[in-house]
Amino acid sequence: MERILVTGGAGYIGSHVVKALGEKGYDVLTYDNLSSGNKWAVLCGGLVVAELADRVVLEHTIQEFKPDAIMHFAANIIVSESVRDPLKYYINNSVNTINLIDSMRRCSVNQFIFSSTAAVYGIPERVPVDEETPLLPINPYGASKLVTELVLRDLARARSGFRYASLRYFNVAGADHQGRIGQAYKESTHLITRTLKAAKGELAQLEIFGTDYPTPDGTCVRDYIHVDDLADAHLLALDYLFEGGRSEVMNCGYGHGYSVREVVETAKKVTGKDFPVRNAVRRPGDPPVLVAESSKLRKMLHWQPRHDDLEYIIRTAWEWEKKQG
Ligand code: UFG
Repeated sequence: MERILVTGGAGYIGSHVVKALGEKGYDVLTYDNLSSGNKWAVLCGGLVVAELADRVVLEHTIQEFKPDAIMHFAANIIVSESVRDPLKYYINNSVNTINLIDSMRRCSVNQFIFSSTAAVYGIPERVPVDEETPLLPINPYGASKLVTELVLRDLARARSGFRYASLRYFNVAGADHQGRIGQAYKESTHLITRTLKAAKGELAQLEIFGTDYPTPDGTCVRDYIHVDDLADAHLLALDYLFEGGRSEVMNCGYGHGYSVREVVETAKKVTGKDFPVRNAVRRPGDPPVLVAESSKLRKMLHWQPRHDDLEYIIRTAWEWEKKQG
């Protein structure tokens, strides 16, 4: 079976992909510095604890393991932090990723799956957003991911052997159905996690950031995708590359969205808790509506989501959240 090196495999999304790879019988190795990931989250294969920036260890790992493909999840992902500390994002998400791609070249690894983001679109003019929508990120996080996308595009044009899939994630949420892995950030900014922390009483209240958006109920609309469906998309992208498919960029979302209020109401129903909710001012940089046009993923990779159900997403996240301290 093919060998897959997974950077960031101890993190939230990476660990669900490692789990899926292991279940399919791939030989998996995780490379992670555990800055936001956890050892216990790596359910399959080995773990190398090292910095992406350490090219000696990185290239040694690649040469020893001889992966057929690399999946790259290791990144910083907090939009507000990227605004405060842009260099951190350009160094880790852009520079370290370019070095990884260069190390792949030096070690003759030619297939790459990249974790991109809907943040590359900024505030899109049209929704649902297709892959041809202009790339106009409005924060350093999105820009730092776009840099890598441009490098990948140019490299694939220049080197016929090199092929990649760049997957642009919309709002990833939910957890493993057996409650083994889930979101475990020290500080969570994401709506579903914060809502569940409010349900648990860990947050005194849930603030809704903006109630005057041009949407049906005035709150922002997002396309929430269950992390296991996203993991499936990665495995299909891998098959696609192994079968000789050419480089592609694909949106990962269900193609419909829920407002912040709908998420909060569903969380109250799923948890059976009535927690305080306060209307607050808009959070800078939030697009009113962000919904994926995901027919490319469905048609090209034959992706069929299994958990396109907000209640299921929230229920798995809730079961996970209750187990956290
Ligand atoms: N929100 C609240 N209260 C909270 C947290 C969030 O009202 O306590 C709102 C936000 O303002 C936004 C929506 O809930 O309208 C979703 O916010 P998240 O922080 O959960 O997710 P984002 O849509 O901001 O972020 C996602 C990804 C990012 C990516 C971005 C692209 O998590 O990685 O989409 O716009 F960059």
